[in-house]
Amino acid sequence: MELPVDSWYRSLKVRHSRRFFTGQPVDHEILDAMEDACTRFKPFPGVRGVLVRQMKEDIFRGLVGSYGKVRGATTYLAFLGDKEIDGVQERVGYCGEGLVLEATARGLSTCWIAGFFDPYVTAQEIKPLSKEKIFAVSPLGYTTAEYNRDEKIMSTLVRSRKRKSLAQISRQINREKWPPWALAGLEAARIAPSAVNRQPWFFSLDKRGVLLSMEKPGGHNHFSKRLDCGIAMLHFEIAARANGAAGRWELLPSPDVARYIPSKDVL
Ligand SMILES: Cc1cc2nc3c(=O)[nH]c(=O)nc-3n(C[C@H](O)[C@H](O)[C@H](O)COP(=O)(O)O)c2cc1C
Repeated sequence: MELPVDSWYRSLKVRHSRRFFTGQPVDHEILDAMEDACTRFKPFPGVRGVLVRQMKEDIFRGLVGSYGKVRGATTYLAFLGDKEIDGVQERVGYCGEGLVLEATARGLSTCWIAGFFDPYVTAQEIKPLSKEKIFAVSPLGYTTAEYNRDEKIMSTLVRSRKRKSLAQISRQINREKWPPWALAGLEAARIAPSAVNRQPWFFSLDKRGVLLSMEKPGGHNHFSKRLDCGIAMLHFEIAARANGAAGRWELLPSPDVARYIPSKDVL
Protein backbone atom coordinates (compact mmCIF):
# COMPACT_ATOMS: atom_id res chain seq x y z
CA MET A 1 0.00 0.00 0.00
CA GLU A 2 1.28 3.46 -0.88
CA LEU A 3 1.67 5.73 2.13
CA PRO A 4 -1.31 8.12 2.35
CA VAL A 5 1.12 10.97 2.97
CA ASP A 6 -1.26 13.95 3.12
CA SER A 7 -3.80 12.27 5.36
CA TRP A 8 -1.22 10.80 7.78
CA TYR A 9 0.70 14.09 7.86
CA ARG A 10 -2.48 15.80 9.08
CA SER A 11 -3.09 12.97 11.58
CA LEU A 12 0.35 13.04 13.14
CA LYS A 13 -0.04 16.73 13.97
CA VAL A 14 -3.31 16.26 15.88
CA ARG A 15 -2.89 12.81 17.48
CA HIS A 16 -2.73 12.58 21.27
CA SER A 17 -3.06 9.49 23.43
CA ARG A 18 -6.52 9.08 24.95
CA ARG A 19 -7.39 6.56 27.66
CA PHE A 20 -11.05 7.16 28.53
CA PHE A 21 -13.57 6.25 25.86
CA THR A 22 -17.30 6.97 25.66
CA GLY A 23 -18.22 3.32 25.09
CA GLN A 24 -20.09 4.17 21.88
CA PRO A 25 -19.46 1.33 19.40
CA VAL A 26 -17.30 2.24 16.40
CA ASP A 27 -19.28 2.54 13.14
CA HIS A 28 -19.19 -0.61 10.99
CA GLU A 29 -17.90 1.20 7.91
CA ILE A 30 -14.98 2.58 9.91
CA LEU A 31 -14.18 -0.86 11.30
CA ASP A 32 -14.29 -2.28 7.75
CA ALA A 33 -11.90 0.45 6.62
CA MET A 34 -9.54 -0.26 9.54
CA GLU A 35 -9.62 -3.97 8.77
CA ASP A 36 -8.77 -3.17 5.18
CA ALA A 37 -5.85 -0.98 6.31
CA CYS A 38 -4.55 -3.86 8.49
CA THR A 39 -4.65 -6.16 5.48
CA ARG A 40 -3.02 -3.72 3.07
CA PHE A 41 -0.47 -1.88 5.21
CA LYS A 42 2.41 -4.38 5.35
CA PRO A 43 5.48 -2.14 5.15
CA PHE A 44 7.91 -4.87 6.29
CA PRO A 45 7.72 -8.66 6.17
CA GLY A 46 7.08 -10.36 9.51
CA VAL A 47 4.95 -7.68 11.20
CA ARG A 48 1.27 -6.93 11.10
CA GLY A 49 -1.63 -5.23 12.81
CA VAL A 50 -4.86 -7.00 13.70
CA LEU A 51 -8.20 -5.37 14.46
CA VAL A 52 -10.34 -6.86 17.21
CA ARG A 53 -13.81 -5.50 16.47
CA GLN A 54 -15.41 -6.52 19.74
CA MET A 55 -13.33 -7.14 22.85
CA LYS A 56 -14.77 -10.12 24.74
CA GLU A 57 -12.76 -9.78 27.94
CA ASP A 58 -11.07 -6.58 29.13
CA ILE A 59 -7.39 -6.75 28.12
CA PHE A 60 -6.37 -3.41 29.68
CA ARG A 61 -4.75 -4.18 32.99
CA GLY A 62 -3.59 -0.82 34.34
CA LEU A 63 -4.80 -0.13 37.87
CA VAL A 64 -7.33 2.65 38.31
CA GLY A 65 -5.52 5.98 38.42
CA SER A 66 -2.29 4.42 37.16
CA TYR A 67 -0.39 4.54 33.90
CA GLY A 68 -2.04 2.32 31.36
CA LYS A 69 -5.59 2.33 32.66
CA VAL A 70 -7.93 2.39 29.69
CA ARG A 71 -11.66 2.59 30.14
CA GLY A 72 -14.70 2.31 27.90
CA ALA A 73 -13.04 0.91 24.77
CA THR A 74 -14.60 -2.14 23.15
CA THR A 75 -12.41 -2.28 20.06
CA TYR A 76 -8.64 -2.45 19.74
CA LEU A 77 -5.69 -2.93 17.43
CA ALA A 78 -2.90 -5.38 18.24
CA PHE A 79 0.60 -5.05 16.81
CA LEU A 80 2.47 -8.31 16.23
CA GLY A 81 5.80 -9.38 14.83
CA ASP A 82 7.96 -12.42 14.28
CA LYS A 83 10.24 -12.22 17.32
CA GLU A 84 13.10 -13.99 15.50
CA ILE A 85 13.48 -11.28 12.84
CA ASP A 86 16.22 -8.68 13.24
CA GLY A 87 14.74 -5.25 13.81
CA VAL A 88 11.30 -6.59 14.67
CA GLN A 89 10.66 -3.83 17.23
CA GLU A 90 11.23 -0.92 14.88
CA ARG A 91 9.21 -2.67 12.18
CA VAL A 92 6.30 -3.12 14.61
CA GLY A 93 6.54 0.53 15.70
CA TYR A 94 6.46 1.76 12.11
CA CYS A 95 3.59 -0.52 11.06
CA GLY A 96 1.55 0.10 14.22
CA GLU A 97 1.88 3.87 13.98
CA GLY A 98 0.61 3.75 10.39
CA LEU A 99 -2.57 2.11 11.67
CA VAL A 100 -2.78 4.58 14.57
CA LEU A 101 -2.57 7.50 12.11
CA GLU A 102 -5.17 5.85 9.86
CA ALA A 103 -7.50 5.51 12.88
CA THR A 104 -6.86 9.17 13.75
CA ALA A 105 -7.76 10.17 10.17
CA ARG A 106 -11.04 8.31 10.62
CA GLY A 107 -11.96 10.21 13.78
CA LEU A 108 -10.94 7.54 16.31
CA SER A 109 -8.86 8.04 19.44
CA THR A 110 -5.94 5.75 20.23
CA CYS A 111 -3.23 5.05 22.82
CA TRP A 112 -0.22 2.79 22.37
CA ILE A 113 -0.12 0.34 25.31
CA ALA A 114 2.98 -1.83 25.52
CA GLY A 115 3.08 -2.83 29.17
CA PHE A 116 -0.37 -2.82 30.69
CA PHE A 117 -2.35 -5.31 28.67
CA ASP A 118 -3.01 -9.00 29.18
CA PRO A 119 -1.00 -10.89 26.54
CA TYR A 120 -2.75 -14.20 27.26
CA VAL A 121 -6.29 -12.93 26.78
CA THR A 122 -5.18 -10.98 23.73
CA ALA A 123 -3.48 -14.05 22.25
CA GLN A 124 -6.64 -16.11 22.78
CA GLU A 125 -8.55 -13.59 20.70
CA ILE A 126 -5.92 -13.12 17.98
CA LYS A 127 -4.25 -16.52 17.80
CA PRO A 128 -0.73 -15.39 16.84
CA LEU A 129 1.50 -17.72 14.80
CA SER A 130 4.05 -19.68 16.84
CA LYS A 131 6.93 -17.22 16.22
CA GLU A 132 4.80 -14.12 16.68
CA LYS A 133 4.71 -11.91 19.75
CA ILE A 134 2.10 -9.26 20.51
CA PHE A 135 4.30 -6.23 21.23
CA ALA A 136 1.60 -3.67 21.92
CA VAL A 137 -2.07 -2.81 21.52
CA SER A 138 -4.13 0.34 21.11
CA PRO A 139 -7.73 0.88 22.12
CA LEU A 140 -9.86 2.41 19.35
CA GLY A 141 -12.96 4.46 19.88
CA TYR A 142 -14.62 7.77 20.49
CA THR A 143 -13.64 10.21 23.23
CA THR A 144 -15.05 13.52 24.42
CA ALA A 145 -13.32 16.75 23.38
CA GLU A 146 -12.54 17.50 27.03
CA TYR A 147 -10.23 15.26 29.08
CA ASN A 148 -11.80 13.91 32.26
CA ARG A 149 -10.08 14.35 35.64
CA ASP A 150 -8.20 11.01 35.63
CA GLU A 151 -7.05 11.58 32.09
CA LYS A 152 -5.72 15.01 32.96
CA ILE A 153 -3.82 13.55 35.92
CA MET A 154 -2.31 10.83 33.73
CA SER A 155 -1.32 13.26 31.03
CA THR A 156 0.37 15.53 33.59
CA LEU A 157 2.09 12.57 35.27
CA VAL A 158 3.89 11.51 32.10
CA ARG A 159 4.17 15.13 30.91
CA SER A 160 2.75 13.91 27.64
CA ARG A 161 2.64 17.35 25.98
CA LYS A 162 6.34 18.04 26.67
CA ARG A 163 8.80 17.38 23.90
CA LYS A 164 12.58 17.63 23.69
CA SER A 165 13.91 20.50 21.60
CA LEU A 166 15.32 19.91 18.12
CA ALA A 167 18.78 20.56 19.54
CA GLN A 168 18.28 17.72 22.05
CA ILE A 169 17.24 15.18 19.43
CA SER A 170 19.72 15.99 16.69
CA ARG A 171 23.35 16.64 16.06
CA GLN A 172 24.55 19.60 13.94
CA ILE A 173 21.19 21.23 14.25
CA ASN A 174 21.96 24.16 12.13
CA ARG A 175 19.10 25.30 9.99
CA GLU A 176 21.37 26.08 7.04
CA LYS A 177 22.84 22.57 7.06
CA TRP A 178 19.62 20.60 7.36
CA PRO A 179 17.52 20.64 4.18
CA PRO A 180 13.87 21.72 4.68
CA TRP A 181 12.47 18.20 4.15
CA ALA A 182 14.78 16.83 6.87
CA LEU A 183 13.85 19.62 9.29
CA ALA A 184 10.17 18.83 8.64
CA GLY A 185 11.00 15.18 9.35
CA LEU A 186 12.63 16.09 12.65
CA GLU A 187 9.65 18.18 13.69
CA ALA A 188 7.30 15.29 12.91
CA ALA A 189 9.48 12.75 14.74
CA ARG A 190 9.67 15.09 17.70
CA ILE A 191 5.91 14.87 18.29
CA ALA A 192 5.77 11.09 17.90
CA PRO A 193 4.44 9.09 20.87
CA SER A 194 6.85 7.04 22.97
CA ALA A 195 6.54 4.93 26.13
CA VAL A 196 6.41 7.23 29.19
CA ASN A 197 7.17 10.00 26.69
CA ARG A 198 10.90 9.28 26.88
CA GLN A 199 11.61 10.23 23.21
CA PRO A 200 14.68 7.99 22.94
CA TRP A 201 15.66 9.05 19.41
CA PHE A 202 18.57 10.95 18.03
CA PHE A 203 19.07 12.11 14.43
CA SER A 204 22.19 13.13 12.52
CA LEU A 205 22.93 14.00 8.91
CA ASP A 206 25.46 11.94 7.01
CA LYS A 207 26.50 11.69 3.38
CA ARG A 208 23.83 9.16 2.46
CA GLY A 209 20.87 10.53 4.38
CA VAL A 210 19.57 10.93 7.91
CA LEU A 211 20.77 8.51 10.57
CA LEU A 212 18.44 7.60 13.43
CA SER A 213 20.09 6.24 16.58
CA MET A 214 18.83 5.30 19.99
CA GLU A 215 19.64 7.63 22.82
CA LYS A 216 21.07 5.68 25.79
CA PRO A 217 20.56 2.23 24.28
CA GLY A 218 21.16 0.30 27.53
CA GLY A 219 18.79 -0.38 30.39
CA HIS A 220 15.99 -2.86 30.83
CA ASN A 221 13.80 -1.07 28.31
CA HIS A 222 16.45 -1.44 25.64
CA PHE A 223 14.24 -3.32 23.24
CA SER A 224 11.09 -1.31 23.49
CA LYS A 225 13.06 1.86 22.82
CA ARG A 226 13.47 0.47 19.34
CA LEU A 227 9.66 0.27 19.15
CA ASP A 228 9.50 3.99 19.93
CA CYS A 229 12.14 4.61 17.25
CA GLY A 230 10.05 2.72 14.68
CA ILE A 231 7.18 5.09 15.42
CA ALA A 232 9.49 8.09 14.93
CA MET A 233 10.70 6.58 11.63
CA LEU A 234 7.20 6.66 10.22
CA HIS A 235 6.61 10.24 11.38
CA PHE A 236 9.93 11.33 9.87
CA GLU A 237 9.24 9.66 6.52
CA ILE A 238 5.71 11.05 6.18
CA ALA A 239 6.99 14.60 6.70
CA ALA A 240 10.01 14.06 4.42
CA ARG A 241 7.75 12.77 1.64
CA ALA A 242 5.25 15.59 2.16
CA ASN A 243 8.19 17.94 1.64
CA GLY A 244 9.48 16.39 -1.57
CA ALA A 245 11.94 13.77 -0.30
CA ALA A 246 10.59 10.29 -1.03
CA GLY A 247 13.04 7.68 0.18
CA ARG A 248 13.51 4.41 2.01
CA TRP A 249 14.79 3.21 5.38
CA GLU A 250 17.80 0.97 5.72
CA LEU A 251 17.64 -0.86 9.08
CA LEU A 252 20.89 -0.89 11.09
CA PRO A 253 22.26 -2.78 14.11
CA SER A 254 22.23 -1.22 17.61
CA PRO A 255 22.88 1.47 18.81
CA ASP A 256 21.90 2.85 15.40
CA VAL A 257 18.38 2.10 14.28
CA ALA A 258 18.04 3.06 10.63
CA ARG A 259 19.10 5.47 7.94
CA TYR A 260 16.62 7.37 5.75
CA ILE A 261 17.99 7.44 2.22
CA PRO A 262 16.25 9.91 -0.09
CA SER A 263 15.64 8.51 -3.56
CA LYS A 264 16.96 11.57 -5.35
CA ASP A 265 19.72 14.01 -4.59
CA VAL A 266 18.05 16.32 -2.09
CA LEU A 267 20.84 16.51 0.45
C1 LIG B 1 5.49 2.03 22.68
C2 LIG B 1 4.57 2.82 23.59
C3 LIG B 1 4.08 2.24 24.74
C4 LIG B 1 3.20 2.93 25.56
N1 LIG B 1 2.69 2.30 26.66
C5 LIG B 1 1.77 2.94 27.40
C6 LIG B 1 1.17 2.26 28.50
O1 LIG B 1 1.48 1.09 28.79
N2 LIG B 1 0.24 2.93 29.21
C7 LIG B 1 -0.16 4.22 28.90
O2 LIG B 1 -1.03 4.76 29.57
N3 LIG B 1 0.42 4.89 27.87
C8 LIG B 1 1.35 4.28 27.12
N4 LIG B 1 1.91 4.93 26.05
C9 LIG B 1 1.50 6.31 25.72
C10 LIG B 1 2.58 7.34 26.10
O3 LIG B 1 2.58 7.59 27.48
C11 LIG B 1 2.32 8.64 25.30
O4 LIG B 1 2.46 8.35 23.93
C12 LIG B 1 3.31 9.74 25.67
O5 LIG B 1 3.12 10.14 27.01
C13 LIG B 1 3.16 10.98 24.77
O6 LIG B 1 1.84 11.46 24.82
P1 LIG B 1 0.96 11.60 23.50
O7 LIG B 1 0.82 10.22 22.89
O8 LIG B 1 -0.34 12.15 23.97
O9 LIG B 1 1.68 12.51 22.55
C14 LIG B 1 2.82 4.27 25.24
C15 LIG B 1 3.34 4.85 24.08
C16 LIG B 1 4.19 4.13 23.26
C17 LIG B 1 4.69 4.76 22.01
